[in-house]
Amino acid sequence: MHVNTLILGAGAAGMMAAAHAGRSTLVIDHAKAPGEKIRISGGGRCNFTNLGCAPDRFISRNPHFAKSALARYTQHDFIALVAAHGIAYHEKTLGQLFCDGSARQIVQMLRDEMAAAHADLWLDTTVEEIRHDGAFQVALTREGRTQVVTATHLVLATGGKSIPAMGATDLAYRIAAQFGLGLVTPRPGLVPFTFANDRFRPLAGTALPTRAAAGGHSFDEATLFTHRGLSGPAILQASSYWIEGEAITLDLSPEKSLAEVLLAAKRSDGRKSLSTILSRHLPARLVQHLSPDWPTDPMAAIPDATLRDLAQTLHHWQLTPAGTEGYRTAEVTLGGIDTAALDARTMEAKAVPGLFAIGEAVDVTGWLGGYNFQWAWSSGWAAGTAI
Ligand code: FDA
Repeated sequence: MHVNTLILGAGAAGMMAAAHAGRSTLVIDHAKAPGEKIRISGGGRCNFTNLGCAPDRFISRNPHFAKSALARYTQHDFIALVAAHGIAYHEKTLGQLFCDGSARQIVQMLRDEMAAAHADLWLDTTVEEIRHDGAFQVALTREGRTQVVTATHLVLATGGKSIPAMGATDLAYRIAAQFGLGLVTPRPGLVPFTFANDRFRPLAGTALPTRAAAGGHSFDEATLFTHRGLSGPAILQASSYWIEGEAITLDLSPEKSLAEVLLAAKRSDGRKSLSTILSRHLPARLVQHLSPDWPTDPMAAIPDATLRDLAQTLHHWQLTPAGTEGYRTAEVTLGGIDTAALDARTMEAKAVPGLFAIGEAVDVTGWLGGYNFQWAWSSGWAAGTAI
């Protein structure tokens, strides 16, 4: 059997590419259903894009690579598609757009788009071997039978390594290596931190607004203490910039100066303790956890300099994670197929005409908040329309 385009992976990027790749397109996936990550994303409502999408919200060895695709197929193009399919949506926070109903509507929309483009979809299909002699010869096993499909164009859209329990594999990286494309070492991104000795276990479930900073980037959002460490949107964002072994910085009161709070309380509530005053501004369990290191004197007896130092510590809490929860829970994979090997306009491999790589398999990773899907739509569109 011969097809013009064979797309490996019926996820967000693969389905988008299939909808635009034109005649004779086949999409294969080893899963039993397409778009499984879309289905479970955004708590079942899919945060499908972000109104504030811009290239500086993506991480890549080449920060310029994503610009072309993001500019040619924008968040507004995808919003128009969603609207054209009659899918109701809303902005939750920070430009994040979610379905009012269900993420399944986005999967169905992409299936309808693929059907309208007459693209075929083979599920429960595995890739055995790929050869290349002008065309791509791909041995596929489906329903116990192995057959070779030849294709003029081959699109790698099998995503990254995040959440192996959902079927994530390193297939795209292996095929890229077979064709001599470079790889930026993959690592888990948008992932909770773990700490030695489960030091935050007593705080599990406590959440507060914070500013979390790592690798020169900071994010003002909630931090959540977990049984094994830290999570919440601020932490997940910071994790993508974290360099292993380095400390992260947590500001426990980004909106309000704790030095001002403490010095004012010293005058107005001099007989109260530090813990009592701080419990008005921070979660009581967190104050209890931190207080053994604090002076026990009444506020009036604590020198101003000590109060200022303490406030400074709470605005710049330095914490060195032992590691992360890893691919088991990471929302994305950083790194991937090196963009230096790809044409930024088309996603085609410069040295292997006909071979394309899109979506999370490529070394482009977005922030939390709909950016990763937008990269899947934009890069999928760029490859599909180039074929
Ligand atoms: P994707 O992972 O979607 O698709 C890859 C496909 O390839 C899958 O269908 C898989 O089965 C298939 N495949 C893999 N290996 C294969 C093999 N060896 N053989 C055959 N097929 C194979 N992003 C966002 O913007 N907003 C959000 O709300 C969320 N929420 C979210 C929640 C959770 C729990 C996760 C894990 C991730 C998110 N994301 C997200 C990230 C987003 O899901 C992700 O970046 C995109 O799905 C990437 O799209 P791709 O098409 O590149 O890969």
